[in-house]
Amino acid sequence: MFAALCGNALSAVTTKSDQTSTHLPDRILVLGATGTIGRATTAALVRRGYDVTCVVRPSFDPKDACTDLTGAAIMHADVTDPASLRNAVLAASPFDALVSCLASRNGAPQDAWAIDHQATVQAIKVAKAAGVKHFVLLSAICVQKPRLAFQHAKLAAEQALVASGLTYSIVRPTAYFKSLAGQISRVQQGKPYLLFGDGVLTACTPISDRDLGEYLASCLSNPALKNRILPIGGPGPALTPRTQGEHLFSLLGCPAKFKHVPVGMMRGIAGMLNAASRVAPSLSAKAEFARIGLYYATESMLAIDPDTGRYDRDATPSTGQDTLFDYYSAVINGEATVERGDHSVF
Ligand SMILES: NC(=O)c1ccc[n+]([C@@H]2O[C@H](COP(=O)([O-])OP(=O)(O)OC[C@H]3O[C@@H](n4cnc5c(N)ncnc54)[C@H](OP(=O)(O)O)[C@@H]3O)[C@@H](O)[C@H]2O)c1
Repeated sequence: MFAALCGNALSAVTTKSDQTSTHLPDRILVLGATGTIGRATTAALVRRGYDVTCVVRPSFDPKDACTDLTGAAIMHADVTDPASLRNAVLAASPFDALVSCLASRNGAPQDAWAIDHQATVQAIKVAKAAGVKHFVLLSAICVQKPRLAFQHAKLAAEQALVASGLTYSIVRPTAYFKSLAGQISRVQQGKPYLLFGDGVLTACTPISDRDLGEYLASCLSNPALKNRILPIGGPGPALTPRTQGEHLFSLLGCPAKFKHVPVGMMRGIAGMLNAASRVAPSLSAKAEFARIGLYYATESMLAIDPDTGRYDRDATPSTGQDTLFDYYSAVINGEATVERGDHSVF
């Protein structure tokens, strides 16, 4: 079913080569192409007929079977080293657009500022110097209510892009499927589904990697997505964690069993770690991870309606056709796997 839905979504895609069969395809540079959304975006760009070049770490081996970038050229450069990126990009110029799916792998404050901000700002400068016209930036919907280091780093990068004079598309997605699938295996082992509070404190409209990749690629050809900040979610109603758990139990054919984690306890742990990190700076990364956990336990991944100041499903644009519950079915049936990294919760 999941595969069938994806197939339908794909058949609706108009390829770039359809549109420009008599011209050379636009040349697109992709940063962060080896990540979850970077891979999906690279695949979407290749399907659309663009001439795609992916910047990967110097240590990346193109034969790595886990990271399929078929159809794209590979360029090795260190995005944290301005000279390395500049020299590589200028040597292979010209490029028409740059799509950045770069993100800190662990979300710790130092890494977030190094990658989500500094490397991204450097990429904006390099793009400008190399004559790139359009910069598409993968950001996150949670930056609308910034409390965490990585959110401040992303916002500062967004601001640098808007100020750069380049045409920009800043894409702020809701929750990814991988971030909402971490409990499938524990429930399959007969354990209860963990809920923060009563499980209805938050909600989101999850978006699949493939649908988000298509959306990022469409920023290049759709004039309505240029010079805009673009919150974006997947199709269907907003889902609370409780609804996600209930549906998972019904797919597995067993009665729902929940364990409630009090939000007050999370607040207490986050507060204690925060205080402890002031005297023992080595605890500051742990304190930030506790704050990240608390944030996602209490804040929805939906756009905030500016009139009410509340999270609002109707204010959150949707794209694509893939649903979280079809993905759950695909995982349960062994047709899809859950990608879990340091970074899959935010
Ligand atoms: N999880 C969610 O539900 C969610 C929802 C909305 C928005 N977001 C946002 O989406 C982003 C995460 O996207 P994702 O899951 O696709 O990320 P990801 O899988 O962690 O990929 C990160 C990419 O950045 C690259 N990168 C990181 N550090 C690097 C370094 N030092 N040098 C070179 N490359 C580096 C990685 O390269 P390597 O492969 O070489 O490490 C990889 O290509 C985050 O910004 C997050 O805030 C997440």
